[in-house]
Order: sequence, then C-alpha cells, then structure tokens
Amino acid sequence: MEQFCNKDCFDQDKDVIAPLYGKASINFVKGEGSYLFDADGHKYLDFVSGIAVNALGHAFPAVVTAIQEQAAKFTHVSNLYPNELQVKLARKLLADSPYTKAFFCNSGTEANEAAIKFARKYFNRIGQPDRVQIVTFFNSFHGRTFGALSATGQPALQEGFGSMPGGFSHVAWNDTSALKAMVNEKTCAIMLEPLAAEGGVLTISPEMVTTINDLRNEFGCLVITDEIQTGLGRLGLFYGADIYGLKSDITTLAKAIGAGLPLGATLMRGKVADILKAGDHGTTFGGNPIACAAGLVVVNEIKKPLFLETVRTRSQQLKAGLSQLASKYSFLGDVRGEGLLLGLCSEKPVADIITLLRKEGLLVHRAGANVLRFLPPLNVSAEEIEEALQKLDNALAQVV
Ligand SMILES: Cc1ncc(COP(=O)(O)O)c(C=O)c1O
Repeated sequence: MEQFCNKDCFDQDKDVIAPLYGKASINFVKGEGSYLFDADGHKYLDFVSGIAVNALGHAFPAVVTAIQEQAAKFTHVSNLYPNELQVKLARKLLADSPYTKAFFCNSGTEANEAAIKFARKYFNRIGQPDRVQIVTFFNSFHGRTFGALSATGQPALQEGFGSMPGGFSHVAWNDTSALKAMVNEKTCAIMLEPLAAEGGVLTISPEMVTTINDLRNEFGCLVITDEIQTGLGRLGLFYGADIYGLKSDITTLAKAIGAGLPLGATLMRGKVADILKAGDHGTTFGGNPIACAAGLVVVNEIKKPLFLETVRTRSQQLKAGLSQLASKYSFLGDVRGEGLLLGLCSEKPVADIITLLRKEGLLVHRAGANVLRFLPPLNVSAEEIEEALQKLDNALAQVV
C-alpha cells in the first residue's frame, strides 16, 4: 500500500477529514516503547502518549500478543452474553477499591454519561426522583457528548449546540465557599477530576478535599470522580483520588485502560450497583473482548510490585528537571501536577514551544492556554526523562 509522506498525509487529511482538530504535519508510521517514527524518517520521544492513553508506551509486546490472540478467536459477541475478559478485567479494577461493580463502554465521555445516569437513577429508585442536580467545576473536562459536555465547566465548548441537558451547576475550582453554597439536600452528585488535567493541570487543595468529603457525609450526595486521565497510575497511585484522600461513590476510567483500543469503565459502590436493573443502560460494543484483553495486560503491568513506586520516582526526576528549567528561563512559571501528569506554565505561547519541541524530536501537549503538559508513558526510563529535559532545554533556548 502506498505510504504518504508527512506533508501528503497532512494535505489529504485536510481534504477528507472533518476539520475538528489542530493537527501537526506528521504521519506516524511506527511506535516502539517511548518513541514514535514518522514517514519522513524522524524519531520522536513521545511525552504525549496519545493524551495519557499509552501508559505502557507503543507496541508493548504483551499487549500486541493479547490483541492478536483475541482477534484470532473472535472480535465481538455483544453484551447479550457474559464475557470472560470483561469479568477478569473488572475483578482487577475493583480489587482494593471501594467499588463492587463495573460497567464497560467505549470512551471517557460514555463512562461519564453512565456515571451521571447511574447517580440520577440511584436517587430515583430510592424515592428521591427530584434529586438530579450535579455540581461540577469550571475548567473541568468530562467529554463531548451532551451529558458529559453539560458537566464540563467550559462555556466555550458548549456554545452553539443549543440547550444543554439541565441540572448541572458549576463552581470555581478549589472554591470551598462556592461549593458549600451550591450543595444541599437536592444535590445528586458532586463530579470532579481529582486533578483538572485539560483545564490547566490544576491540583486540588486539601481544604477542597475535606469540604467534598464533609458535604458527601452531611447531605448523602454521591461523589463521582472522573479518573479518565488521572486513573490507572498516572498520578502515582492506581486511583488518583486516593492520593488526596477524596472519597468517591462512582469513578470513571478510559484512556489508558485499553492500551489505545476504545474502552471505558464506570465503577460503582454496592449501593449504586444494587438499584440498577437490566435495560437501564447499555451499549453494543462496550467491553469489547479485544479491548479487554489489552486492558488486562495494562492493569496487570501497573499492579506489579514496584511499578507505581517507579512512576513516583520518575515523577520526582521530571519535576526536578522542569523546576531547574523554570529557574533558567524567565518566561517559565510554576511546575504543576502530580505523578506523570505534569504542567509547566509559560508566558510565551505554548503552541510555538510545542512546534520547536517537535523539531527537537520531543512530543508534548498543552493544557489550557499557557501550560505545557507532560504525559510520558508510565514505564518511561530515567534516561528517556533526561533526554526529554535536554531536548526541552534546546527548544527553550530558541524561544524569542
Ligand atoms: C478527565 C477527562 N474526562 C473525560 C474525557 C473524555 O474522554 P473521551 O475523549 O475518551 O471521550 C477526557 C478526555 O480528554 C478527560 O481528560
């Protein structure tokens, strides 16, 4: 089959693909561990990881084998039948967690749709049908389908799509007074990311964690933690909420869980699971066997002894290196984040820095308008982090 060079791919993409993304002119043709290779022969150190998806890097051998083996058996049977791989994956996700049941879907936004529906159904079934209000935060990101978009506290993303589903209120991130004023006995759920990733790599304050835990106790509202980006070890513990002591009733996963295949999960405590009935919700593809086979490899790897300890060590190394660069270049500001979800603030346009970095062979992403976001694979090596810091230094030296 003919292979496009970088420019051809970019130009032809513009011809036939809906113009919804600001794409770079690259045609990746191969991935290996923390590296990607393009059609023009360039090599890149990948600190985007498909936006926090490729936790084990590219072409992780056990993932490749699991996908190949399952594809040769069957690719789909539907949710009319139990699926052994779903069961095994659910058991791994639920182990050592407060959750007792899992619902599998295909993406982050769907995992959040399910969480919102389950939370509302819970109060409906226990005789409080008016309890539908979901309180979320400005600068949050929960997805692009209508329910998840309504939860997302970014008016610009909602604009032009007509009326959003009602019952969602937003308060400022870390504003405990605003949250206390908003939550009452009509509140169905408080929904939040343990760390607001897309909104600018914003960490949660200890006061906010205490406030949410207290409001949950006082009013019996549910807490939904969106761990789509923060979960599966990205912050240094399997569930990001545990780092902060944030209590949760429903949590959502996607991104890293399927090793790049479309997979999402909504995990819930027993009291929520117990009220659900057949037909309340569903999906044709959710929990697809190939995605679950890949997911099992991911979760087994992350749960190996020392894996998360190493993530935390690498995090310290990357954080220290970023802080050094922040002291060297006056246009750089705070280093933010947790684990291997780190942000570096810049007064100079981050889009320009990202372009310079690409030329140096380092891929990074942005978060909000002025934050460079670093999302290396969770199994990144110490040498690769040093290489990234060197490339970053080279690029920053060219910023005018
Ligand atoms: C925290 C969070 N929630 C939800 C989503 C939506 O996930 P998806 O793009 O798989 O629908 C994202 C995606 O970036 C996310 O970061």
